[in-house]
Amino acid sequence: MKVAMFSSKPYEERYFRRLANNRHQFSYLQPRLTHETAMLANGFDAICCFVNDKVDIPVISTLQQSGVSLIALRCAGFNNIDISAAKNAGISVCRVPEYSPHAVAEHTVALILSLNRHVHRAYNRVRENDYSLDGLLGFDLYGKTVGVIGAGRIGSAFIRIMIGFGCHVQVFDPAVSSLPRGSEAVNLETLLRTSDIISLHCPLTPDTWHLINTERLALTRRGIMLINTSRGGLVDTPAVIDALKTGHIGYLGLDVYEEEADLFFEDLSNMPIQDDVFARLLTFPNVIITGHQAFFTHEALSSIAEVTLANIDAFEDGRTKDIHLVE
Ligand code: NAI
Repeated sequence: MKVAMFSSKPYEERYFRRLANNRHQFSYLQPRLTHETAMLANGFDAICCFVNDKVDIPVISTLQQSGVSLIALRCAGFNNIDISAAKNAGISVCRVPEYSPHAVAEHTVALILSLNRHVHRAYNRVRENDYSLDGLLGFDLYGKTVGVIGAGRIGSAFIRIMIGFGCHVQVFDPAVSSLPRGSEAVNLETLLRTSDIISLHCPLTPDTWHLINTERLALTRRGIMLINTSRGGLVDTPAVIDALKTGHIGYLGLDVYEEEADLFFEDLSNMPIQDDVFARLLTFPNVIITGHQAFFTHEALSSIAEVTLANIDAFEDGRTKDIHLVE
């Protein structure tokens, strides 16, 4: 198949080139898929997309006219794709449902530890020959209550790690029946009211959009640590900024941001930040933001390339049961 890979980066191309056989012809295109760039898919059988490629009705219409029959997502989340529009256009959508839940779970823990022990500030101080400890006071994770929203693959991996730290882990997930041993199922309100740390691991859907908003933040403990490595839209950012300003949120760790598509994965270091909400977030000393890198490990990139190529192979062979279809 002829495959156009949008939002392509050299670090992931290496993994695809290493595994690609002669069956498929990949074109590695740097632009993000948008209304303006969709025509680049003309003449391709399939496109390969990532988290910030925008596949809405107009884009799908262009893809259909271009002869595309498969959208192969090289990620797990598919909130950026209009699935029913793709279905109506006769375009199949597949994804990589699991590549390394450990990668994301471990990055979540990295954010928690860095925020708690102020590693980001300590790093800068020591480089300035400043060894004072004022402002670096942390707390023991041992014995603290961690609230996990969403206990799928990543949430479960995260729960196991936090149990290892000696935390009390409570979980809200309306669809999961068995939880990792040592964790406890609770309702959302109890989780919000009684957690010291809240970490989001559910997908972004119309039901979970702005799951963390002003009303829910009001239920949480003062000084709460909030971590989002899932999808930016789970959090109402202006509400979070208000809570940071009053000190109600004590720590915020983000790997995702609702408007990240215009920022993340690019070097914008020579440009003024255009997003005032994001710029405000960057001013808080108790906020750490990473640019959607939780997935970014060697193991995850290998697995993403492997499963994406296997999906495309199976699609071409008509082995429907072997494709990780999104339906
Ligand atoms: P998963 O599908 O295995 O688990 C998601 C869980 O969320 C399911 O158990 C589901 O029942 C639960 N859930 C759904 N709606 C919920 C709600 N309203 N409240 C509480 N729980 C709810 O997905 P997985 O692999 O664990 O990934 C979770 C999310 O992590 C993905 O949807 C994606 O958005 C994000 N992600 C982020 C990455 C990053 O690099 N930052 C990389 C990979 C995934």
